[in-house]
Amino acid sequence: MLHAHEPKTVRASRIQLAQLMLPEHANTHGNVHGGWIMKLVDEAGALASTRHAAHRTVTVAIDQMIFRHPVHVGDLVFFNAEVSFAGRTSMEVEVQVVAENPITGERVDTNMAYLVYVAIDEHGKPTQVPPLITETPEEQARMDAAMVRQKRRLEQRK
Ligand SMILES: CC(C)(COP(=O)(O)OP(=O)(O)OC[C@H]1O[C@@H](n2cnc3c(N)ncnc32)[C@H](O)[C@@H]1OP(=O)(O)O)[C@@H](O)C(=O)NCCC(=O)NCCS
Repeated sequence: MLHAHEPKTVRASRIQLAQLMLPEHANTHGNVHGGWIMKLVDEAGALASTRHAAHRTVTVAIDQMIFRHPVHVGDLVFFNAEVSFAGRTSMEVEVQVVAENPITGERVDTNMAYLVYVAIDEHGKPTQVPPLITETPEEQARMDAAMVRQKRRLEQRK
């Protein structure tokens, strides 16, 4: 087993949730509520951060979410999440949302979100997380951009 503070790869945190959209998730026109998508985005992000931290995590910040395309009842929606940056106790997770019409096979990138989680110990206090290792230039670019976003969030908090 890895030591709690041994570095871990982005790849090791990567998860995919798949969820069929049902009538109870939608309005009377069959469009899925944005709030339902947001819940699943948070669930996917929490899982990726928990996997990285090997600890329970809590959501501390969610950046704005813009829905570019509607999601419909009957769509199979994929939530692809991975840690993009790890601080001392916090992690940023990038979640990509893709809706598939399982009849036609058409896939649409509906939205993307950044969320920040903090790893929590058994007393509910923030606890250290492993450093994040990038393995590709794309992962490194995502980490660099994530650091800029995190700096901005902390400035806004002041
Ligand atoms: C998360 C929580 C434990 C942090 O407590 P805190 O006293 O602010 O702790 P700290 O100031 O040490 O911050 C912990 C980490 O979170 C980061 N953080 C705090 N506020 C942040 C914000 N607004 N945006 C981004 N990161 C933030 C800090 O930078 C720090 O990261 P680092 O250790 O990697 O440098 C506390 O705010 C909390 O319990 N919030 C509620 C979480 C929750 O219940 N979420 C679900 C809502 S229903």
